[in-house]
Amino acid sequence: MSLLEENQSTDLEKMVGLSRRGFISAGALCGAAMFMGGSLLSRSVLAASVSAGTSKLLGFDSIPAATNDAISLPPGYRSSVLISWGQPLHKDGPAFDPSGNGTAEQQELQFGDNNDGMSLFEFAGEKDRALMAINNEYTNYRYLYPHGGMPQSAADVHKALACEGVSVIEVQRKGGQWHFVQGSRYNRRIHGNAPIDLSGPAAGHALMKTSADPQGKHVLGTFQNCANGKTPWGTYLTCEENFTDCFGSSDAGQVFDAAQKRYGVVATSKEINWHPHDPRFDMAKNPNELNRHGWVVEIDPFDPKSTPKKRTALGRFKHENAALAETADGHAVVYMGDDERGEFIYKFVSRDKINHANAKANRDLLDHGTLYVARFDSGDSNPDHPKGHGEWIELTHGKNGIDAGSGFADQAEVLIHARLAASVVHATRMDRPEWIVVSPKDGQVYCTLTNNAKRGEDGQPVGGPNPREKNVYGQILRWRTDRDDHGSKSFAWDLFVVAGNPGVHGGTPKGGSSNITPQNMFNSPDGLGFDDAGRLWILTDGDSSNAGDFDGMGNNQMLCADPVTGEIRRFMVGPVGCEVTGISFSPDHKTLFVGIQHPGENGGSTFPEHLPNGKPRSSVMAISREDGGVVGA
Ligand code: FEO
Ligand code: CA
Ligand code: CA
Repeated sequence: MSLLEENQSTDLEKMVGLSRRGFISAGALCGAAMFMGGSLLSRSVLAASVSAGTSKLLGFDSIPAATNDAISLPPGYRSSVLISWGQPLHKDGPAFDPSGNGTAEQQELQFGDNNDGMSLFEFAGEKDRALMAINNEYTNYRYLYPHGGMPQSAADVHKALACEGVSVIEVQRKGGQWHFVQGSRYNRRIHGNAPIDLSGPAAGHALMKTSADPQGKHVLGTFQNCANGKTPWGTYLTCEENFTDCFGSSDAGQVFDAAQKRYGVVATSKEINWHPHDPRFDMAKNPNELNRHGWVVEIDPFDPKSTPKKRTALGRFKHENAALAETADGHAVVYMGDDERGEFIYKFVSRDKINHANAKANRDLLDHGTLYVARFDSGDSNPDHPKGHGEWIELTHGKNGIDAGSGFADQAEVLIHARLAASVVHATRMDRPEWIVVSPKDGQVYCTLTNNAKRGEDGQPVGGPNPREKNVYGQILRWRTDRDDHGSKSFAWDLFVVAGNPGVHGGTPKGGSSNITPQNMFNSPDGLGFDDAGRLWILTDGDSSNAGDFDGMGNNQMLCADPVTGEIRRFMVGPVGCEVTGISFSPDHKTLFVGIQHPGENGGSTFPEHLPNGKPRSSVMAISREDGGVVGA
């Protein structure tokens, strides 16, 4: 920890005399919070003290919204490209071919497309060398193929699958700048056709068996890899999100069962259209293939020969990310969101304890444990800062009405059809849960609820942590577990911020909560990241039209919040048409890595190279201070 970081203690810490805490374990704050008058101490601090420019934690001035095809940063900051879509990973590897004529085999040797969540893994004892595991969520046909449209052949589908999954790369710092190391023996692609093992309670179940894999234990590929998690034992978690969209049916009249419908499968596929050219994605021919995706996958970045494992104990849904925590008595906790309108927030608690002395002893820790889903009460009616309580409901066969009578033959079916099991226990239908992060300072958990234009319809009541009808702006929910123990079954929640547009709508709710101003407004919070000093970084994936409800918000952006005072400042604006997603830090926090995904999604961008008639390329950016200081401080 640098002296600078040490000096960035939050006001709350100073008040209660806390020292900086290690990995995520909540605890000591509980007594202090009670002393100060209740477990929602930071709520009252937030409500009382939000005013522009007062946070000591945020060491930069908020920048204006922007609509140009570039990265905008506060004065004194700079950015460079760490790696872009199509860059060769290996020595003498095939170079990016902007014509779109590159093959699937070449793409399998290059950095994948549309980078999303990522984690950095230090080499022990080496401060200038690390590995990064980076998700590649999907691809944009407009730029992938010379024809610019839907896949037209098996080779086209193969190439799309080669763009997705995960890229593991080595990075090194030279002359104060982090660089990608082409040719490192650690560089690796785990793409949509890579061999992966199924493990945990659903592996080998009848619903997981296909003609290509009669044992139901080995699957080809991970794809639609959204965000991520990093375990304390040094592995990477990649989360499979919109997998259902990859499936369709050659039988236009195929009747889907309740579970297939709940996961959103339709005969015509949605935008992706692989099934006409690859029978693996044809529900008329391989219906169980659908069940083999939608999981959290664990990867050992330090072993390039290792086979990734889909951890079925964590449940199957449209996984956004996976936030690791630890119970007071040492068990691993994984918080997870299911990004779909009206779907749920989950947590997994491992059966066994984390072995902090022997990383390899945790190799299969995520194969055994208990899955829970969150139920929130309706809270109070304060439109500016709603708050209330909630509980975790166990999703175990034989408990809480989850049994053969409600449609579940065994625990494997509960996990494969986790959404249905969560509905049996009346979990709370949320406004599209995206990223979840755990504060390294006080163990509070933050979750972006990105938006939900259907709130108020479709059996989704307005209220509680989802307080706004036709919610186009989103909000950030947080909760403090009872006894500050992530193993607790209950918690207190509040809304850290309700996004809105005070320039278009007066007052709450559409103008947002009191920590939203015309200077920092944004929509659709999505990515989240805490740095070691406790700054909360907020990344957006919203409407960048800069018009109507979104007038004055500009391109997608990254903001930084002081969790104690509630102040939020705009730190970065991305290029035209991009989503800002994926965040990680160098070990000394002097470089912030952030993902620019799908620049020019609908045209209008040549980011980052700005070549005449060039293609935009998703890229990981390295942000640093010109004076070499800690980013954000
Ligand atoms: Fe891939 Fe829900 O974002
Ligand atoms: Ca996202
Ligand atoms: Ca999103």
